Amino acid sequence: MSAIKLKENLWSVGVLNPSLRVFDIVMEARYGTSYNAYLLTGEKNVLIETVHADYFGEYIDNIRQVLPLEQVDYLVMNHNEPDHSGSVARLLELCPRLQVIATKAGVKHLKDITNLDLPCRAVAAGDTLDLGDRVLEFIPAPMLHWADSMFTWDSRGKTLFTCDFLGCHFCEPTMLDTGIHDRAAYEGEFAYYFQGIFGPFKPHVLSGLDKMPADAELVCTSHGPCLTETIAWAKENYRAWATPAPKTKRAAFVVYASAYGCTKALADAAVKALEEEGYEASSADVTKAPLAECAEKANEADVLLVGSPTINRAAPKAVWDVLTSIDPINLKGKAAGAFGAYGWSGEAAPMLHTFLKGLRYAAPEEPFRVLFTPDQIDLDAMADYARSVAALCTVPVDAPEEKSAGGKWVCALCGYIYDPAEGDPAHGVAPGTPWEQVPASWSCPLCGVDKGMFKPVE
Ligand code: FEO
Repeated sequence: MSAIKLKENLWSVGVLNPSLRVFDIVMEARYGTSYNAYLLTGEKNVLIETVHADYFGEYIDNIRQVLPLEQVDYLVMNHNEPDHSGSVARLLELCPRLQVIATKAGVKHLKDITNLDLPCRAVAAGDTLDLGDRVLEFIPAPMLHWADSMFTWDSRGKTLFTCDFLGCHFCEPTMLDTGIHDRAAYEGEFAYYFQGIFGPFKPHVLSGLDKMPADAELVCTSHGPCLTETIAWAKENYRAWATPAPKTKRAAFVVYASAYGCTKALADAAVKALEEEGYEASSADVTKAPLAECAEKANEADVLLVGSPTINRAAPKAVWDVLTSIDPINLKGKAAGAFGAYGWSGEAAPMLHTFLKGLRYAAPEEPFRVLFTPDQIDLDAMADYARSVAALCTVPVDAPEEKSAGGKWVCALCGYIYDPAEGDPAHGVAPGTPWEQVPASWSCPLCGVDKGMFKPVE
């Protein structure tokens, strides 16, 4: 790919990788990806990010299509994962007077990644860089999706550089959302990228959205096309995906394997006990239910019980497949336990128990095991064990949602009534949108107050 002029004084100098199919070992890249980088030109010239080390030559060629390398003054690193920082060391060899700008965490990462003492400036919230003809503002956005992440805002160009945020693995040679031919494919990848990269950091996503300047007209991401006409669409989707659904009951999931029905009997006793405790409880046999379904329920569960017989001194692979699909970032307040019936030595339940504790679930001291067929005493003990795990759960539950007649809500300040049947299409809320799904960023179309000022219509 050549350098592409995105607008006056702004060039895309990144590279495409259309043949990539697995990103970072774990993530599918059905349509390849792009390693985006940008060059802002003017009184001072600024590079925004580098590219994967394998594409250094093409990156340098792209920069040179715009100006000689020696004329670049700054390198801004919004995020330093090696797909973006991989070429920093080699770039500094060619441009030793380049000053590198990153957050404090980013500076540390860069030094550890390159093993070099780089000429870095660490920036914090509100810090700026005066380029003469424009001023860049730095907006730290931690955990989007690394601690070092930040946005860079060019208010003159109304351009926001967000690195991974709002990006996706997609090859779009025009580098603009206006050039996407297969819109459905792009939207699928955009959603998949959110789930894979930002799904574990939803509260930070909401915070990041709130930090985005409202007048941004161009959002330059680090993968996939830049956003212009789809900025509002992208933000709305991120907000919807990151906003937690109201929870009035805790969820419990009992997932198990059972060769001869003994561990299943324990699982059934656990489900019954958890239902009696007021949980929304369900169970699944890993050899019958799809892995994706088991993984989703395991991730949604506030209380997780994992059961397995012991086969050749271990739990079978299907059980581990579920456990290794758990997002370990969002387990605060959640509790888990392990159980199983066994015939000889019974290693499976202790192994599962150790793994769950390693994920940092709250867990009892010991797993629960039964030799061969559980009798009523064993089943009662299993129920007690399930209750003891549930007692460790501290995930908060919401008060039941106050229902309004007809689902309408009224603005306490000006009297505007929100009717779900009509929505507010002029402000991006489609007809049929219930109040609970109206984005938190929506405000009263008459007086401008936020959702918190609305009351249910009696
Ligand atoms: Fe695209 Fe988090 O690196």
